[in-house]
Amino acid sequence: MLIGNNIQLAYNLLTNNKLVAIPTETVYGLAANAFNADAVLKIYQTKNRPQFNPLIIHSNSVERFENWGLIIPPEVKLLAKHFWPGPITFIIPANNNIPEIVTAGTGAVAIRVPNHQLTLQLLEKLDFPLAAPSANPSGFISPTSPQHVAYQLGNKVDYILDGGVCNVGVESTIISFLENEPKILRYGGLAVEEIELILGTKLISVNENDKIIAPGMLLKHYAPNHPLYLVNNIEDAIKNENKNRVGVISFYKMYHDIPSEHQFVLSNTKDLNEAAKNLFSFMHQIDKLNIDKIFTEKLPSIGLGYAINDRLKRASIRETSN
Ligand code: TXA
Ligand code: MG
Repeated sequence: MLIGNNIQLAYNLLTNNKLVAIPTETVYGLAANAFNADAVLKIYQTKNRPQFNPLIIHSNSVERFENWGLIIPPEVKLLAKHFWPGPITFIIPANNNIPEIVTAGTGAVAIRVPNHQLTLQLLEKLDFPLAAPSANPSGFISPTSPQHVAYQLGNKVDYILDGGVCNVGVESTIISFLENEPKILRYGGLAVEEIELILGTKLISVNENDKIIAPGMLLKHYAPNHPLYLVNNIEDAIKNENKNRVGVISFYKMYHDIPSEHQFVLSNTKDLNEAAKNLFSFMHQIDKLNIDKIFTEKLPSIGLGYAINDRLKRASIRETSN
């Protein structure tokens, strides 16, 4: 497996329709030439991802997307001006330059300019956008370091571009502009409050009972190997457990009786940005422990708390009636 920070090598491989894992501020992406359907097919195969689940395309500016013939709505331009490069993705109508395998035949395409210097330099050199989902096997925990990618997909990618640990740590916020009112399809690394402030309106969020629009909305997602319980009160929930067999991801508290190496505190200072940055890394680490169960708790519903709670909910075991 090849890992390093050689942009020219990443460029050569991508131009030859190979797969390269790329760093972004949110999570690592598994990238290929978005204009080449064969290259994009390899992404689906490598991740074992269902082909009905479309991919985000990445480039380094709004103008690049316009040069490829995409029509960028004024509200998207406004938000892009404030937040790109950054953790927000827009869904807009696609055009014939975008292969159906990228859009999953939806007629819509997701576009993003990620905020990572190495990847921005790479995107600037390339004369095509990069299709890139998170670089994890479908349904599992997203990678926030090159080591996570190596561990999960190591021998299946041609190169891992090493840009260090991701600063934001949860995937981008996704907003759809396909209808009159913009809609939140996924809570993510940019707080909805910030987006609403710029738009001057409240955003509608898509209800889970609706049909699945963004398969980040698939209920089973981010699955660790140990069962993860999302509870209201960790102390109560672990009362009758064998404390040596339990792992905890807490917001800011430690619990005595539980071995300290089984405990992961998202943020001592209750900082939700720090918590988001630690979340997936802690999920990767706790999953390697010799334990039976993972307990975790809901964080405050504000800022990045929405994205964190969303990921925890999808990672947790649930009783479903269907
Ligand atoms: O932060 C991120 O967004 C990362 C980095 C690598 O950019 N990417 C990422 O990609 O999280 P992925 O594939 O793991 O999640 C993208 C989500 C999926 O839930 C997908 O269904 C949705 O975006 N999506 C992509 N294209 C779409 C489209 N045309 N319409 C609706 N949803 C779309
Ligand atoms: Mg993903």
